Amino acid sequence: MRLFAALLPPEPVLDEISHAIAPHVGQVPGLRWPDRATWHITLAFYGDVPDHVLPDLEVRLARAAGRHDPLDVSFAGFGAFASVRRARVFWIGVAGDPMNRLADSARAAGRRAGAVQTDEKRFHPHLTLGRAKSETDLRPLVESLAGFQGSPWRAEEVRLVRSYPGAQVRYETLRAWTLGR
Ligand code: 2AM
Repeated sequence: MRLFAALLPPEPVLDEISHAIAPHVGQVPGLRWPDRATWHITLAFYGDVPDHVLPDLEVRLARAAGRHDPLDVSFAGFGAFASVRRARVFWIGVAGDPMNRLADSARAAGRRAGAVQTDEKRFHPHLTLGRAKSETDLRPLVESLAGFQGSPWRAEEVRLVRSYPGAQVRYETLRAWTLGR
């Protein structure tokens, strides 16, 4: 099964982002805008994980969550991978308490449990808002959204999420653990 670990921001904070991007949704040629119900911040992407790995992954993720305090963060700064000029993934960034150590722990949990496809690319906390099939110049979009600053929120829970790929990707939270407990 395809799994990843993620944070889910509170709905009022997502409302602010929805509101900011609303004038642009569907207006940028080539850019698809995933359903808001799928929005999340990925901490670790495990890829396809054999069923027998799941129990150990859960134990290790629970332990990792317990070792980290909640994080005080806010959304700020729109950007894109690989770059705003040559964008395939359009996102909003995260400011405040760094998430890197938590992401490192979530990745290590996967590695140690035997999730051998765990993505080890440099971690850049973000929430994906759009995807393009080919490289797209998003400078006008990013410029028109400049200055957005989301309200502060506290990340308190790590989720283990199952992804059902397909024409319409679907996510299911399998487990959730409170940070620092
Ligand atoms: P994203 O964080 O940029 O949106 C489920 O696929 C989630 O894991 C998505 O949020 C996705 O990208 C993220 N992810 C990270 N690395 C991935 C990879 N190598 N393949 C697919 N998804 C990945």
